Amino acid sequence: MQEYHEFLEEILIPEDVLQKRIAELGKQISADYAQNRDILLICILRGGVLFLTDLMRQISVPLAIEFMGVSSYGVGGRLSTGHVRITLDLNVDILGRDVILVEDIIDSGHTIAAVLEMLETRKPASICVCTLLDKADRREVFVPVKYTGFSIPNKFVFGYGLDIDDYYRNLPFIGVVDLNKYKP
Ligand code: PRP
Repeated sequence: MQEYHEFLEEILIPEDVLQKRIAELGKQISADYAQNRDILLICILRGGVLFLTDLMRQISVPLAIEFMGVSSYGVGGRLSTGHVRITLDLNVDILGRDVILVEDIIDSGHTIAAVLEMLETRKPASICVCTLLDKADRREVFVPVKYTGFSIPNKFVFGYGLDIDDYYRNLPFIGVVDLNKYKP
C-alpha cells in the first residue's frame, strides 16, 4: 500500500477536533437519554467502529452495543450504487429498545435509509441516526439525522474508520485524498 503522506492533500479534521466534537456528542446523547432505562448503539461496520468506541466512552447512560454489516459500494468501488446488502445481522431483538445507529459517514443516504427501514419493522421503542460525517450535498434519499459530528464538503476522505481501498482506517484524523497522487 502506498504511503499515505504521498496522497494526503490535507488533514480535514485533526484528531483533537474530532475527539472534542465526539465528547460533545456523547454529552448531548447522555442528556437526551437521561430518562431512559438504557440505549442500544448499533454500529454499522466497518467504518463506524472507531467512532463507536470513542463515542460510547463519552456516554454516561447505561448502554449496550451491537454490530451490523452493510455493504453499499461493492468490492473496490467508491460510488454508492443504491444497492444495499446486509452482510451481518444483529444478534439481539430490538423490540422496545431505544436504538441509536452509529455511522462514520452519510453520503447518498442509501445505506442508512435501507438500514432504518429494515430495523423499523422490528419495532424498537425509538430509533435515530448518529453520524460522524455528513456529506449533505450528495444526498439522494432523505435521511433523518439526529446527531451529526461534522458536515463536510464533497471530497474523498479517509482515516478514522474510513478506508482507501481497505487501508488507513486506523489513522486518528480525517484526511483528504489527492486523487492525482493516489496510485490504486
Ligand atoms: C460507507 C459508510 C456508509 C456508507 C455511506 O460504507 O460507512 O455505510 O458508505 O454511503 P451512502 O450514504 O452513499 O450509502 P462502505 O459501504 O464503504 O463500507 P465500510 O464502512 O465497510 O467501508
